[in-house]
Amino acid sequence: MLSKKSEGEGQILTFFSMASAVGKTVLAVNFAAALAERGFRVCLADLDLQFGDVCNYLALAPEQTLYDYSEANEATRNAAAFVTPTAFGFDVLAAPKELDEAFIMNAEIVSSAVSQLQEAYEFVILDTTTGFSAINLSLLELTDVLYLPCVVDFIPSIKNLKCGIDTLHKLQFDWQRVRLILNRNKAETQISVKDVEALLGRPFQYFIGNDYRGVTLSIKEGKPVVLTDKDSRLADEISNVISSELGEQEESGGFSKWFSGLWK
Ligand SMILES: Nc1ncnc2c1ncn2[C@@H]1O[C@H](COP(=O)(O)OP(=O)(O)OP(=O)(O)O)[C@@H](O)[C@H]1O
Ligand SMILES: [Mg+2]
Repeated sequence: MLSKKSEGEGQILTFFSMASAVGKTVLAVNFAAALAERGFRVCLADLDLQFGDVCNYLALAPEQTLYDYSEANEATRNAAAFVTPTAFGFDVLAAPKELDEAFIMNAEIVSSAVSQLQEAYEFVILDTTTGFSAINLSLLELTDVLYLPCVVDFIPSIKNLKCGIDTLHKLQFDWQRVRLILNRNKAETQISVKDVEALLGRPFQYFIGNDYRGVTLSIKEGKPVVLTDKDSRLADEISNVISSELGEQEESGGFSKWFSGLWK
C-alpha cells in the first residue's frame, strides 16, 4: 500500500518496462492525474530522456526541462523550480527537448533531481525508458513502488518481461514493492494470460482493459482519461488501481472513504 514515509519525503512511483509501447506513459499520466484529483501534491518526471512523451500526451510546451536543471548552478539548483504546471493539478518535470541535451544526462543528475522533487511533493511519478540502463538502475534504488506494465501480444516482449523479473530478483529488489500490470487486457491475442503468469511464476496484480479509441482521443486532446472520460471503463479501472494502492475501502456507494491507515 502507498504510505507516506515521513514529512518532506514523498513516495516515488516508477513506471518501468522491458518492452516498448506497453503503456508506461499512458498509465503514469493517469496515475498523476488521479492522485492529484485526490488532493495530493504530485509531480510527474519524464525520464524517458531521448523520446519522452509526457508533454505530447498532455499538450504541454515546457519552458524549462531537466536539461536546464542540469545546467544550473549545482550548489543552489532545485528541481522543483524547473517544473511545468498542468491544468490537471499536478506538475511535470519535462524531459530535455533535444537529443543532444538528453545524451549528456547521467544517473547522478537524474537522481539528484528526483530526490529534490521528493522533498517538495507527496508523490513523484517517474516515467522511464525501456530497459536496464545506468540511469534506470539508479532510479530503481530510489523507487518505493515499481509498476511494470506489460502487454501480452508478442512472445519476445514476454521473454523480456521474464528476463526483467529475474533481473529484479538478482538485484534483490523487494518483490512486495512491485506491481505487475496487464495492460490492454483482452486485446486480440493468441497468448493465454494464465500461461504467461505460469511462465513468470507470479500473477498480474492489476488488469487494465484495451481502449484504443479512448486512449487515442485522450492523447489527441492532451487530457488524461481519468479526468475527461470519467464514465469510461478505462478511467474506472485506473481509479480502482489507485484506490487499491491507497488502501481505500470499497463501500456500497463505491470507493469514497479514506482508509484510516493511509498515512501510517
Ligand atoms: N489501455 C490501453 N488501451 C488501448 N491502447 C493503449 C492502452 N495503453 C496504451 N495504449 C496505446 O499504446 C500506445 C503506447 O502507450 P505508451 O506510450 O503509454 O507506452 P510506453 O510504454 O510509454 O511506450 P515507450 O516505450 O515508447 O515509452 C499509446 O499511444 C496508446 O495508443
Ligand atoms: Mg513512454
